[in-house]
Amino acid sequence: MDVAVITGSAGLIGAESARFLSRKGFRVVGIDNDMRKTFFGDDASTDWSRRELESSLPTYVHHPVDIRDQAAIESVFAEYGSDLKIVIHTAAQPSHDWAARAPHVDFSVNAAGTLVLLEATRRYAPDACFLFTSTNKVYGDNPNKLPLVELDSRWEIDPQHPYYEHGIDESLSVDQTKHSLFGASKLAADVLVQEYGRYFGMKTVCFRGGCLTGPGHSGTQLHGFLSYLVKCAVAGTPYQIFGYKGKQVRDNIHSYDLVNMFWHYCQNPRPGEVYNAGGGRQSNCSIREVLALCEEIQGRRMPVVYHDENRAGDHIWWISDTRKFQRHYPGWSHAYDLQRTVREIFSSATARLQPLAKAA
Ligand SMILES: NC(=O)c1ccc[n+]([C@@H]2O[C@H](COP(=O)([O-])OP(=O)(O)OC[C@H]3O[C@@H](n4cnc5c(N)ncnc54)[C@H](O)[C@@H]3O)[C@@H](O)[C@H]2O)c1
Repeated sequence: MDVAVITGSAGLIGAESARFLSRKGFRVVGIDNDMRKTFFGDDASTDWSRRELESSLPTYVHHPVDIRDQAAIESVFAEYGSDLKIVIHTAAQPSHDWAARAPHVDFSVNAAGTLVLLEATRRYAPDACFLFTSTNKVYGDNPNKLPLVELDSRWEIDPQHPYYEHGIDESLSVDQTKHSLFGASKLAADVLVQEYGRYFGMKTVCFRGGCLTGPGHSGTQLHGFLSYLVKCAVAGTPYQIFGYKGKQVRDNIHSYDLVNMFWHYCQNPRPGEVYNAGGGRQSNCSIREVLALCEEIQGRRMPVVYHDENRAGDHIWWISDTRKFQRHYPGWSHAYDLQRTVREIFSSATARLQPLAKAA
């Protein structure tokens, strides 16, 4: 049986990948030590998702291993050797703010942990595809230097700019810009992943995500924008906005659409590639716009608290141009737009949170 190793398997993208590849007939080997709980507290734990995978996927095997533990990782990879066809690496410390509190931990998980996995793949399964969930934060704050105009509900790029129609492509510089420590550790990993493709000829690829989202996210204030915002809407908790008048724009890609990109890549891998991977013009919103959508769905006003200071490293306007991926893989397109994604997150948050509220 073909095997896929997924790091961060209980997280949003890891669990979506596990279900997807299981449906395709893979034995899925998950690696996740619930470090998200250590980063962000009990609310952000992904242990519920690990339990769901174990109970719903008959061939799923879980290893609660830290990706930095080289010996433990190598022993997992050695067990499957050449049966191992796909490695999806999603485990990470994912927050700017948290990275600044503990730079050594952030860098060891994001950069050194990626090196451990690349080397284990090179040693035990050099023909496997290695897919890395990078981030648009590798471009640092270069997007904030684009000519932006303020509209009623959002920041928007100047309509005369080449990025206006389709968003930001992969030619934007990753250099000489403020990344935040999180952006720097992810960029180090991104460059390593590219190098294993270019130097060793391995089938490696970086997907530089905008906001990744979906009902499987364990959203929390420091990470998981839409999931956390909808959680606040359902629970009636005030949502906190940090700077830019709440008009900052993010594009949002549903976890299914991203994992479908992974699958298309594996059918015809191109070593060392990088792709911007977001909702694009199809699925994006400012914070104000998505708050209005939540109010429309719920039929009530949503309480917000506004802080004048923006988060360091936050983008004012980000929309991904996904046309490079679409040129290489014409069979792929977005299945989800913003409305569908938000409504799906609402249904699952309501199902999860309302019983808790009744019990309290
Ligand atoms: N969610 C986003 O908006 C977004 C945007 C751009 C890029 N990304 C990147 O995509 C990837 C997946 O994001 P996500 O939202 O699914 O993250 P997530 O936090 O939901 O899942 C990551 C999982 O990795 C696990 N993990 C963390 N450190 C670990 C370690 N040292 N060893 C083993 N397991 C560990 C966590 O417990 C968690 O279950 C991350 O690499 C993230 O940096 C995410």
